Amino acid sequence: MSKILSLGHYQPSRVLTNDDLAQMVDTNDEWIRDRVGIATRRIAAPDETVADMASAAAEKALASSGLTAADIDLVAVATTSSIDRCPNVAARVAAKLGIAAPAAYDLNTACSGFSYVLATADHAITAGAARNALVIGAEKLSDITDWTDRSTCIIFGDGAGAAVVTADAAGEKAGIGPVVWGSAPSEAIRIEGWRPYIQQEGQSVFRWATTALAPLALQACERAGVAPTELAAFVPHQANTRIIDGIAKRLGLADAIIAKDIIESGNTSAASVPLALSKLVERGEVPSGAPVLLFGFGGGLTYAGQVVRCP
Ligand code: UT7
Repeated sequence: MSKILSLGHYQPSRVLTNDDLAQMVDTNDEWIRDRVGIATRRIAAPDETVADMASAAAEKALASSGLTAADIDLVAVATTSSIDRCPNVAARVAAKLGIAAPAAYDLNTACSGFSYVLATADHAITAGAARNALVIGAEKLSDITDWTDRSTCIIFGDGAGAAVVTADAAGEKAGIGPVVWGSAPSEAIRIEGWRPYIQQEGQSVFRWATTALAPLALQACERAGVAPTELAAFVPHQANTRIIDGIAKRLGLADAIIAKDIIESGNTSAASVPLALSKLVERGEVPSGAPVLLFGFGGGLTYAGQVVRCP
């Protein structure tokens, strides 16, 4: 059994507003805010890579963990937008942070990626295959966005979030609850061919997200032994505020904070959950030890979620 020890995040400095996008395609601030909920998103510099952003977030998480690079023996990165295939992003992060010999892998389940890598790290630690892991979600979606397509280019942003994961102390409440993961195989979201651009059948994904996911998120609570009314926060993938509100309503939350980092960061796919969680914790909005429901969903169509204790 394992827990999240610390978190960190990184966002590029360039802010792209809805008004900026209205100069590029036929759209407007009101439509984007009403239909998706986004006000701004961050866009990486041309020479800034997924590995650079992943490393920046990981460095912050490691710095606040009390551990050093020498303690990390697993690095796992969720990403669907890394252009370079090899070395993988995890190995590049390890090299940059001076982590000498970790197990290093990337995992691509698009927007559900962070909950997938968090689960695999938890499983590796529980099985004795690792002691301390760096788990990262990082995306440069601006590289694979068609900037002439108003149905997609208004949605996505760049950034990274990271967590240091370590073994629970004896007798401690489980820091990372059992994962509920799976897929509903479909071509509704595609990043394919060469050169790839994100394409999606927005309405069908919207329907799936607002109908299929709440029962699965409830399963994650049940498997963790935490009632939805006990949750301190709900941090779903940041795809659309209407989806977030729709799922949250069906969960029957009490006073839980509902993460809506999408408003300022857009949809950052695998980075969205750790980015939103790290910001909540940085602002001191969730007490240490409080239960938080993470739930990712997207391309594949894949989903994964678990209840974690806030570091
Ligand atoms: O992160 C991975 C998971 N992905 C998701 O969860 C995405 C789920 N889907 C959604 O969030 C929404 O379907 C979108 C935000 C992608 C689109 O919102 P929508 O309310 O489903 O819009 P729509 O595609 O049904 O389009 C409605 C209208 C259309 O015009 P007509 O045909 O009614 O005249 C579009 O052409 O809005 C038009 N439209 C726009 N108008 C202004 C589409 N994009 C824009 C735009 N600005 N950017």
